[in-house]
Amino acid sequence: MSKTKAAPETLPFDEAKSEAFTERFVSALNASSLMMMYSVGHRTGLFDTMDGMDWSTSSRIAEAAGLNERYVREWLGAMVTGRVVDYDATSKTYRLPPEHARWLTRKVSPENLAVTAQWISVLGGVESQIVERFRSGGGVSYECFERFHETMAEESAQTVVAALHEHILPLTNGLEEELERGIKVLDVGCGSGRAACALAKAYPASTFLGYDLCEDAVGAANALAREEGLSNVSFHVKDITGLEEPEAYDLVTAFDIVHDQKDPATVLANIHAVLKPGATFLMQDIAGSSHLEKNLDHPIGPFGYTISTMHCMTVSLAQGGAGLGTMWGEELAEQMLGEAGFGDISKHSLEHDFINVYFVTRKK
Ligand SMILES: C[S@@+](CC[C@H](N)C(=O)[O-])C[C@H]1O[C@@H](n2cnc3c(N)ncnc32)[C@H](O)[C@@H]1O
Repeated sequence: MSKTKAAPETLPFDEAKSEAFTERFVSALNASSLMMMYSVGHRTGLFDTMDGMDWSTSSRIAEAAGLNERYVREWLGAMVTGRVVDYDATSKTYRLPPEHARWLTRKVSPENLAVTAQWISVLGGVESQIVERFRSGGGVSYECFERFHETMAEESAQTVVAALHEHILPLTNGLEEELERGIKVLDVGCGSGRAACALAKAYPASTFLGYDLCEDAVGAANALAREEGLSNVSFHVKDITGLEEPEAYDLVTAFDIVHDQKDPATVLANIHAVLKPGATFLMQDIAGSSHLEKNLDHPIGPFGYTISTMHCMTVSLAQGGAGLGTMWGEELAEQMLGEAGFGDISKHSLEHDFINVYFVTRKK
């Protein structure tokens, strides 16, 4: 006998629920449109230009930003109807209120929300390929994403790099002193290298290495190290699935990379193997549960599963990988750390950051 419940002939239909859904849909349509316009405002420098400007015409704003007036006026239309920019209909002038500028300009980094808005367009760029993978399976690889590493670098500069000294390093007892004395550090999946460069600058007696799969990210990381005149950090193209440097490091950092892995279990075991006894593993990943029902009230639940479908899960599947996805969850993360040989794992949330979670453990 089948355990599947038979569907009633006609499902009960709640008119009010149906109406409420259409309202939520329209609101999502406007909100997602605004996300693209926030991204454009960030990339063109319009928010930075308008910050502190008094009431101005579209021509004046376009001139100050060095942009085409017709495009700027249409963008302003989206910003005004979206209640981001104020509008005076009599003088046809616009103003970015300081209360909004406070969250939208480079000046306020690390709290520039417009940086995060860029994800919607970055993910939208691969939609046709993702639709095709829904039919065929498989994944979309890193090279197919326009501006992924650039956006990631800006994002993690705000969430991770800006919090390194005040919040993240103090999570491990004695780590700052070890870094000051001089230790060997590996950043796996280093991306554009901003975290490793920031640490290398702060701790000149320590040596830093960064490995990443993607040539363009490693190129940007080495360029940053050169720009900053850092001689104690270098970046290399390397697949950490094949990492074999037994007991070589005093600290391994993994910022937002484990769930993207083709073979996350092997990568965690490799990290365990490259640590010296007593050395530290610091892993940042996305906060959330491994159980969908526990993520219903997650502050960025839809965004988390969207970025997973459109990036994190698919880049892993593109390599024939596990496809854990962004929302693999803290329960599975702890389980896999344990299976890789780590014990005494401490988990931390930072008060100002509801997106990330930090796991710290020392190798026995
Ligand atoms: C979400 S990004 C995070 C980048 C960086 N840690 C940051 O926080 O800005 C994940 C990074 O992991 C890298 N990556 C994924 N799989 C890898 C592998 N097997 N070996 C090395 N790097 C890998 C990707 O190229 C990408 O740069």
